[in-house]
Amino acid sequence: MSRIAYVNGRYLPHAEARVHIEDRGFQFADGVYEVVAVMAGRLVDEAGHLDRLERSLRELSIAEPVSRRVLQLVMRELIRRNRIRDGIVYMQVTRGTAARDFRFPKGVRPTLVLTAKRLANFGTPEAVASGVAVVSMPDIRWLRRDIKSVALLAQALGKQRAAEAGAYEGWQVAEDGTVTEGCSSNSWIVTGKGTLVTREPSTMILNGVTRLSLLRLARGMGIPVEERPFTIAEAQGAAEAFMSAATALVLPVTRIDGAAVGSGRPGPVTLRLREAYLAYANAEGAS
Ligand code: PDD
Repeated sequence: MSRIAYVNGRYLPHAEARVHIEDRGFQFADGVYEVVAVMAGRLVDEAGHLDRLERSLRELSIAEPVSRRVLQLVMRELIRRNRIRDGIVYMQVTRGTAARDFRFPKGVRPTLVLTAKRLANFGTPEAVASGVAVVSMPDIRWLRRDIKSVALLAQALGKQRAAEAGAYEGWQVAEDGTVTEGCSSNSWIVTGKGTLVTREPSTMILNGVTRLSLLRLARGMGIPVEERPFTIAEAQGAAEAFMSAATALVLPVTRIDGAAVGSGRPGPVTLRLREAYLAYANAEGAS
């Protein structure tokens, strides 16, 4: 069965799906995106992702290419056509196609692209069982990280650097020595006293949709929560650490820059939160 993509109103074979060479996404990274997990055929945290997409577009004064309702229908149709049970839907909106000029073009339609793919498990069983390693690196990104922009070169460089160091993710560190977030995930620790800590939302990080659901679930489970920055040293000395993203859900982090975190094994709070998120994602309510 061939993969199907959606481009500006048309469902096309993935291999033939194209945008123009003067699309502003291609020339200026002038666009935004979302990645939504699909579990048991249902979109996870769909409303949160659509809210954030609309916010990203608003922040950049890019028009909504279609209504929210149409986007919901296209996502479902793409899941159906690609026969996705567990996987992800990727959607991208750019300002559109126009002759190269830094200033916004007038009267162009935004470009809308959606793809879907299968993902057997969100974080391999080994990654969940043993945890993953992360390495720290300077955060060299622009200062509007709250916008889910397709300008991902810093993250691509960071992920490559992490992979070359044998690590799964890079944790980016601001000039003041605090961790902002992972290259494509939010960063969390659990202190010796059992408090869950993750950086507060600001322009310094992307406010993860998974992050927001985890905070809600944690509070419901009676886990104490603090939204504040932490350093690599604090994370290395913490009882537990983990990362969250639509593509990883909750993944234990057991090594940071070569140092074992806590026992060096995935921690109990991390595993409880992963279970709670899986239960939530599989429940009717999630979509
Ligand atoms: N990335 N921070 C950054 C920089 C991210 O790129 C992501 C997600 C997150 C987590 O956000 P969410 O929980 O809404 O997925 C945090 C996606 C998955 C990606 O680029 O593939």
